[in-house]
Amino acid sequence: MTPHNHAKPGDYAEAVLLPGDPLRAKWVAETFLKDAKLVNSVRNCLGYTGTWNGKPVSVQATGMGQPSLSIYVHELINVYGLKKLIRIGTCGGLNAAVKVRDLILAQGSSTDSTIVKDGFGAFNFAPIADYGLLRSAADKAEAKGMRYHVGNMLSSDIFYHVEPGMAGYGRLPSHGVIGVEMESAALYTLAARFGVKALTVCTMTDCLVTGDEIDAEARQTSLKDMVALALDVATE
Ligand code: HPA
Repeated sequence: MTPHNHAKPGDYAEAVLLPGDPLRAKWVAETFLKDAKLVNSVRNCLGYTGTWNGKPVSVQATGMGQPSLSIYVHELINVYGLKKLIRIGTCGGLNAAVKVRDLILAQGSSTDSTIVKDGFGAFNFAPIADYGLLRSAADKAEAKGMRYHVGNMLSSDIFYHVEPGMAGYGRLPSHGVIGVEMESAALYTLAARFGVKALTVCTMTDCLVTGDEIDAEARQTSLKDMVALALDVATE
């Protein structure tokens, strides 16, 4: 038990899906998992454990942004012993070749946050996904005929930049950064620090280049496909 999590030792499976939104965690548990049991509700940051195709798996909300995710992830790894962490989320698009509804598998994660700098002194650490999880997700997306991109994600601490549109992202898009969300760099850094596996899978919901946005129905279908993919990777 921690100040943020009242789950008991053994309440979580070794693999977890990490949405930002607590209600998405509830939806994943109720829609996809068998015998889902609520294991954490501190601050309404809901966590559940159940099974997918007979294999144990958890889903725990992280809240929005890297400070919030870092608290949950630090404790999931160090207090509860989790080994495989897959963030499922939505992201903005920074490249017109990535279409609304496409998946981005975050191979690496750039950031404007100081959170990754902590402890590295003069070095710029490059947060990267676990290669096995990344390869598995790409193979499965390919086999399912899903549209997906493997590339560099920006984890920003800022949702509402002073400059609207693409102006807030500087030279990143011209250096191969294809999407923007708010969590992956911290997730990958913590996974590296503590020797566990992590991956971020995002559905692109709003393209900052074209202004395209996902509609409500497509959002639900795309999220379902993404969750099923993430569960397959998590329980492999
Ligand atoms: N910026 C940051 N995070 C996001 C966005 C965005 O445009 N869209 C979905 N998550």
